[in-house]
Amino acid sequence: MSDNISVEKSNDQSMRNLGKSLIADINGLRVSYTDDGRADSPVIIFVHGFPLNKTMWSSQVEALEKNYRVITYDIRGHGESEAGSERFSIELFADDLFRLMDELDIKKCVLCGLSMGGYIALHAIQKSPAKFGALILCDTQCNVDTPEVKEKRMSDIDHIKKSGLKEYAENNLKNLFMPVSLQSKKDEVESVKKMIREMSVQSLTDTLHALANRNETCEKLSKIEQPVLIIVGEEDNITPPSKGQFMQNKIKDSELKIVENAGHLSNLENAGQFNKYLNNFISSIYETVS
Ligand code: MLT
Repeated sequence: MSDNISVEKSNDQSMRNLGKSLIADINGLRVSYTDDGRADSPVIIFVHGFPLNKTMWSSQVEALEKNYRVITYDIRGHGESEAGSERFSIELFADDLFRLMDELDIKKCVLCGLSMGGYIALHAIQKSPAKFGALILCDTQCNVDTPEVKEKRMSDIDHIKKSGLKEYAENNLKNLFMPVSLQSKKDEVESVKKMIREMSVQSLTDTLHALANRNETCEKLSKIEQPVLIIVGEEDNITPPSKGQFMQNKIKDSELKIVENAGHLSNLENAGQFNKYLNNFISSIYETVS
């Protein structure tokens, strides 16, 4: 175990709820989460991308639960979590994460976020660094939207409000997966399509607003002291490898891994390679609990 990281293992977990589809009451909302793996182990929390939900992490949970306590949850308005009445923002989503950690009595964790989950993770570590022992940033960036991307989000909002989610879901799949994966990863594509179609129009469009209005996190990257792993699919067109390289140049203790044969959803498109990078990084920080 590296000397500069204090391992925060779970506290006495005799009262801990274990398993899938658990509910935590946080910030006045019912938030759905999963809690698997060893109670006495370091905690890894996964934050999903947009417009997906916690089930996108099932292969990572399976890969890690033998040695770690692994938590996934649905961001408000996604999956099985309630949306609440507050205006969505990345800051609000980060605050929900802090409250979830409080509710589960987790003082410190390794945080892993993909895309929007990465935006949330960067906000969270910059706001409360002491809560995180290490960070894993997947297919994400520290930048804000370009004017073109913002405009596209606004036209998507108009279109979805008029026509519903069907066409948006079909078009979005072509951005999330690389072309080869659309053919070779039929199960993953179907499950992502289902995640998108199951979101409410209100939550999906509110999240598009939150993404368009998010603040940048590049300025403070050099202040991050924790070890950081950056993972990017080689064919990611939404947050390409150059975005990961940019962050790696700024974060002192960071490494960049490129996932072959993967687009934006690198954890689904090449789970084997993704999980190898994930496992190597986490076990280099925390000695494996056997
Ligand atoms: C995501 O996967 O979370 C989204 O692509 C993020 C974004 O649209 O900026």
